[in-house]
Amino acid sequence: MHSISLPTYDVLVKHGALASVADIARSTTRAHRYAVITDTNVVRPHAERVVNELGSVGTRTFTVPPGESSKTRETWARVTDEMLEAGFGRDAAIIAVGGGVIGDLAGFVAATFMRGIKYVQVPTSLIAMIDASIGGKTGVDTPRGKNLVGAFHQPTAVLADPAVLSTLPPEHFRAGLGEAIKHGVIADAMYLERTVTDVPMLLDRSTRRPDATEALVARSIEIKAEIVRRDEREHGLRQVLNFGHTIGHAIEAASGYTLLHGECVAVGMVYEATMAVKMGVATPGTARDVKRAVERVGLPTALPPGATVDKLLALMRADKKVRSGALRFALPREIGAMASGDGTWSVPVEESVVRGVLAS
Ligand SMILES: NC(=O)c1ccc[n+]([C@@H]2O[C@H](COP(=O)([O-])OP(=O)(O)OC[C@H]3O[C@@H](n4cnc5c(N)ncnc54)[C@H](O)[C@@H]3O)[C@@H](O)[C@H]2O)c1
Ligand SMILES: [Zn+2]
Repeated sequence: MHSISLPTYDVLVKHGALASVADIARSTTRAHRYAVITDTNVVRPHAERVVNELGSVGTRTFTVPPGESSKTRETWARVTDEMLEAGFGRDAAIIAVGGGVIGDLAGFVAATFMRGIKYVQVPTSLIAMIDASIGGKTGVDTPRGKNLVGAFHQPTAVLADPAVLSTLPPEHFRAGLGEAIKHGVIADAMYLERTVTDVPMLLDRSTRRPDATEALVARSIEIKAEIVRRDEREHGLRQVLNFGHTIGHAIEAASGYTLLHGECVAVGMVYEATMAVKMGVATPGTARDVKRAVERVGLPTALPPGATVDKLLALMRADKKVRSGALRFALPREIGAMASGDGTWSVPVEESVVRGVLAS
């Protein structure tokens, strides 16, 4: 069992933690009624289990279709209306049971319902456990782009039970490992090494060891939590979490969101690490080690067909994180440490350098 503390809530990581959901909800998130928000892939057995633990009296389940297409204002409005119709009020709390889509959506419902009510994150995908459920960023997508409408709203507790990953489709487990690699590159070379060694055991459900999965999830959360603790509102240090994401987001958009986020970030990390070495920001072996880790997980390392250099550059320039002038990237200095300079954790890169690396 691992417990990780953030300023206003704790994260419990434990194989079998779902059995404690009622205790944790009652002690951290007292409410008259609980609204369990989930999707149709997760409702059975995981959300049903949560409802059973909470006791069905006063608890109600709100189920949305799975996938990114549910992370919209329309779904937010539907769930909010259903909660109002069902008589939920200011004294209610939300339990988000699902992947990152459910966490972001349910968190945004919690941030806005009656001007903000408490919520508990019960992440069920690897991405949601090690990334989306930590940090309090909630929101929805718009036709103009992902995550453009939202709010910072911290949960009152996060309950990560790696046992629920047994039903997660393998491609989503693999995609989650992309973010685990990112955490290793950002902050912990030993963690990256151990994850790379454990990959075959972790990927195969029949050999996946509960203690190893628990350790993987817990260490990744610790790394993200440490960064978020020091920079809750993304003023500086939190930029390091964007490693692989400037190029990764552009690839994701260029694919029309047909590729998984973790797959795009994997390719982004390979190219951004190459950029860091070319510029002399990173030690020479860094890009090779990042690529080796990505290959070992079985994630892609090259740009997908159709993602042309021009298209990617246009998308990067349109990204909300890009200010006018030079493109900026969160780059590693070596495995386990990110580059910083002039008080920021992102490095300006000439367009010609970006073009050169993408074309190589
Ligand atoms: N708030 C943040 O800081 C943050 C960080 C990273 C990602 N995100 C967001 O998270 C989303 C991606 O997360 P995701 O990959 O979890 O997406 P997701 O919620 O769509 O889950 C992926 C798929 O796995 C299914 N699933 C989830 N858990 C399962 C389980 N235990 N068993 C069977 N099926 C299961 C889902 O139904 C879905 O089909 C994106 O919208 C992204 O923007 C947010
Ligand atoms: Zn990501």
